[in-house]
Amino acid sequence: MPDRITQMRKLVDYYLGYNATRFIALGVETGLFRALAAAPDGVTVAEFAAAQGLAADYARHFLQTGYALELLDLAGDRYRLAEHMAPLLARPDHNSYLGSLAGFHHVSGRDFERMPALLKSGDVYTFQQHDADFIQAVSEVTAGIAGFVAASILPGLPQFAGRDDLNVLDLGCGMGGTLLALARAYPNARLLGVDVEPRSVERANARFAEAGVAGRVSAQVAAAEGVDLAARFDLVTLIQVLHETQPAVRADILAGAARALKPGGVLLVVDEPYPDTTQGLREAKSCAMTQFIERFWGNELLSLAQQKALIEAAGLRVDAQTVPPPGLVSVTIARRPG
Ligand SMILES: C[S@@+](CC[C@H](N)C(=O)[O-])C[C@H]1O[C@@H](n2cnc3c(N)ncnc32)[C@H](O)[C@@H]1O
Repeated sequence: MPDRITQMRKLVDYYLGYNATRFIALGVETGLFRALAAAPDGVTVAEFAAAQGLAADYARHFLQTGYALELLDLAGDRYRLAEHMAPLLARPDHNSYLGSLAGFHHVSGRDFERMPALLKSGDVYTFQQHDADFIQAVSEVTAGIAGFVAASILPGLPQFAGRDDLNVLDLGCGMGGTLLALARAYPNARLLGVDVEPRSVERANARFAEAGVAGRVSAQVAAAEGVDLAARFDLVTLIQVLHETQPAVRADILAGAARALKPGGVLLVVDEPYPDTTQGLREAKSCAMTQFIERFWGNELLSLAQQKALIEAAGLRVDAQTVPPPGLVSVTIARRPG
């Protein structure tokens, strides 16, 4: 039985986490972590304040608080980012970047204001009903996953070794983060994305044009469950999408994905895995918390077993399911036989 002090500490830690999240979002959004990453030898309070145009007193408190949270180290009077914090907080192109997660929590946390009413009515406030800030924050938070897919997952697949010309279909492409990352990693690939959310598709196509890849990468407004493209793709991806789909259409989405793959083609599903057991809920607090919030959007996080069953019911063979550290998402790799 935990004692009262232990329970108090638990709550105090949660409350600290809230403010630490806001602090990290502040450091990311103002570029202060980027500035610290650019000074590997560290900065004094006076140097930091002068270079960043900050009031000296606030500069000192920003650095001291970062030190208290173990985001910064201190040697003499010089503060610098702690080990590994530069890529985690200051390099959006790094495949372990987590900086945008803080801002996303900030934006998605606004939904708590609607929850007292929603708890009683049972209504949902869907992803698509959210404002432009929210859609943008989702796109930024999934950017790290796109980099992870391109840099860490696909290079490990023997099917694609030595290839740069893949045909890729991205279901639920959002603002095109995955498509852009794959277009950069595979310079001769042709990529198509579909998404039901028109603002995201418009932005995705604008990003492809800005990146000079619009000739081989495009996005269309369409429901993944309506896609009917036969045996054309080496790779079909569902990146953080399955948990956003309604139960009634999931089988159709997977059946369409299976049909769209060439024989031997690969389906890649990245999603947040919901625990199967009550003990698992305690071990995967982040997924449990995410599910609580996303339930109000009408979303349902699936367990690894549920994801596998859906994929296999579509006639695909699941080769691997993993939950890479730090345990925020799962990676499922399946193949069309043949
Ligand atoms: C969390 S976002 C992920 C976006 C993108 N895959 C990425 O990694 O950046 C989920 C996306 O799935 C889309 N979505 C949800 N249900 C869908 C469906 N039935 N068909 C197509 N897109 C869908 C949403 O509109 C949203 O853009």
